Amino acid sequence: MAGMDPAQKKVALRAINYGLHVLTSTDGGEYAASGVNWVSQASFEPPLVMVAVKADSGAAALAGRTGSFAVNVLGADQLDIGKAFFRSTVMEDGMLNGQPFEPGPATGSPLITACAYWFECRVTDTVERGDHTVFVAEVVDAGVRDDAVTPMVLRDTGMNYGG
Ligand SMILES: Cc1cc2nc3c(=O)[nH]c(=O)nc-3n(C[C@H](O)[C@H](O)[C@H](O)COP(=O)(O)O)c2cc1C
Repeated sequence: MAGMDPAQKKVALRAINYGLHVLTSTDGGEYAASGVNWVSQASFEPPLVMVAVKADSGAAALAGRTGSFAVNVLGADQLDIGKAFFRSTVMEDGMLNGQPFEPGPATGSPLITACAYWFECRVTDTVERGDHTVFVAEVVDAGVRDDAVTPMVLRDTGMNYGG
């Protein structure tokens, strides 16, 4: 039997469609915010999501330590905001990587006010395997600032993360 062709594996895995989100977390002093595409719903009842976060990132450390995070969903025309969160987190002038935010009502995790959709999560399970840590988490609050906003499809931007 032939081994897996890495080029085919890459193209096949990149055929999974994703949005783009800003995952945020804080312990009240430290902040982390990261642009992430590896996000999916995982259960209706209870409402669960799963996210895969780079194991050696500040976001994985804070979400792991606090057991909570928020997911801010980017709109189709918000790639500029997404790009600001592919870099390390800078908290300056009360803004996260240049973006205004407010504390989420349930967990205090930063909600980026420019994002039309958000949900706050409490971690229920953590899978530490490979180079990303998977957090399974219950959605404990959610909000919609503008339901007319079309969420981004990462593929449409020409960017990708995966494969
Ligand atoms: C298109 C794109 C999608 C990304 N998706 C994820 C993701 O799903 N999970 C993740 O941990 N990092 C993802 N990243 C990387 C993080 O945005 C980036 O490594 C992180 O914000 C930098 O924080 P650090 O300095 O703490 O590593 C993605 C990057 C790009 C360019």
